[in-house]
Amino acid sequence: MYKFFILLIISTLTGKLAGAEVLGIGAPIIDLILHVDDDFLEEHIPGAKGGGCRPGWDRFCKILQEAPGDGPLLATGGSCSNTIKGLASLGVSTSLLGKRGNDAMGEFFVNKITPLGIEPHLLLSETPNAQVMCLVTPDKNRTFVVFPGAGDEISREDLSDHFFDGIRHLHVDGYMLHNGPLIEEAMKRAKERGATVSFDLATFHIVRQFHERILSLLKNYVDIVFANQDEAKALVGAIDEKACQLMLAYCPTVVILAGAEGCIVGTEEEILKEPTIQVTVVDTTGAGDLFASGFLFGYLNGEPLRQCARLGNLLGTTVVTVNGAEIPPHKWEMIRWHLRDDRDKGL
Ligand SMILES: Nc1ncnc2c1ncn2[C@@H]1O[C@H](COP(=O)(O)OP(=O)(O)OP(=O)(O)O)[C@@H](O)[C@H]1O
Ligand SMILES: [Mg+2]
Repeated sequence: MYKFFILLIISTLTGKLAGAEVLGIGAPIIDLILHVDDDFLEEHIPGAKGGGCRPGWDRFCKILQEAPGDGPLLATGGSCSNTIKGLASLGVSTSLLGKRGNDAMGEFFVNKITPLGIEPHLLLSETPNAQVMCLVTPDKNRTFVVFPGAGDEISREDLSDHFFDGIRHLHVDGYMLHNGPLIEEAMKRAKERGATVSFDLATFHIVRQFHERILSLLKNYVDIVFANQDEAKALVGAIDEKACQLMLAYCPTVVILAGAEGCIVGTEEEILKEPTIQVTVVDTTGAGDLFASGFLFGYLNGEPLRQCARLGNLLGTTVVTVNGAEIPPHKWEMIRWHLRDDRDKGL
C-alpha cells in the first residue's frame, strides 16, 4: 500500500511523470445531457425510450436544436476515456489515443482532459466529433442518441510506434471492435513491448456481435478482462464464479462486475468474491469504467488480487453516488483518504 501513497505524492508534487505509463484507446465522446418530457421523445425518436438510436448528423442536430431549455450540459464521456481519467486522477501517467473532430466539441474534449495530465494523442478528422445525447425524462429514464462521428474513423493505419513507446499497460474498450483490426494490432504492439493489456467488453450487444473475435483476443493478448454479468453470460453462458472460472480458460485475470453486489475476480490461483458497501445510488453511469480505474491502479502497483478488487469497488461505488461519470474533487479527496488509511493499516 505504501507504493500507492508514494506514487500519489510524487505525481501531486511534480505533475505528470515523464512518458505515459498507460495508453488507452477509445473514442473521445462528448456527452450532451438534456432534460425533456415524454412528448418530446415520442415526437422525435418514437419507440426509443430507455434505449438508443443512431441517427445521421442532420437528424442529430435537429433533435438537439428542438430540445427545450437552455442547451445541454456537456461532459467528456466514452468508456475508455473515463477509465483513463480515473487513473490520471490517482496519479498514473496516461495517454489517450482516438480520433476527434476538428470542431468545438473536439476542442472541448482536449481542454478537459489535458489539465488532468492525460497526454492527448487525438488525431484530427473533418467529420464532427463523437457525441452522445442523453435525454432524461421526468421519471429519470435515459434515452441515448448516438453520433459516433470522428470516433469511429480511427483505424489500424493510424497507429504509430511512438504512441506505444515506454508504456507499461494498454487499456481498450470493446466499442473499438467496430474499428476493423485496430484492436488486434494495438494489443500486438503493446505485447511486443512487454506491456500488459486490459479489455472491457463494453456491452452484451458487442459480445454477441464479436463473440469469436473476443475469445481470440482474450486467448492471444489480454491479461485482464472486465465483464459485467450480462457480458459474461453472452460470452460463456454463465454468471458469477462459474463465468469467472470459464473465462479463466482464455485470460489470466478475470473480473466480473456485479453491480451492488461488488465483483468476482479470479486468477489461476484463486477466485474471490468481493462485496461492496451499500450506498444511495444517484446514477450508475461510468460505474464499470471507474471500477476498471481502481482495479488497474492496484494491478499496476503489484497489489494482491483482493486489494485490486477493493480499489475497483471503491471507485465504482463512489461514482454511482453522483450524477454522470465524473467523481467530483471532494470525493477524490475521500478516495485518497481511504488509500492513506489502507497504507496506515499496512494493507
Ligand atoms: N448499486 C450499486 N451500489 C454500489 N456499488 C455499485 C452499484 N452499481 C455498481 N457499483 C459498483 O460499480 C461496479 C461496476 O458496476 P456494474 O456491475 O454495474 O458494471 P457495468 O455494468 O460494467 O457498468 P457500466 O454500465 O458503467 O459499464 C460494481 O462492481 C460496484 O463496485
Ligand atoms: Mg461496463
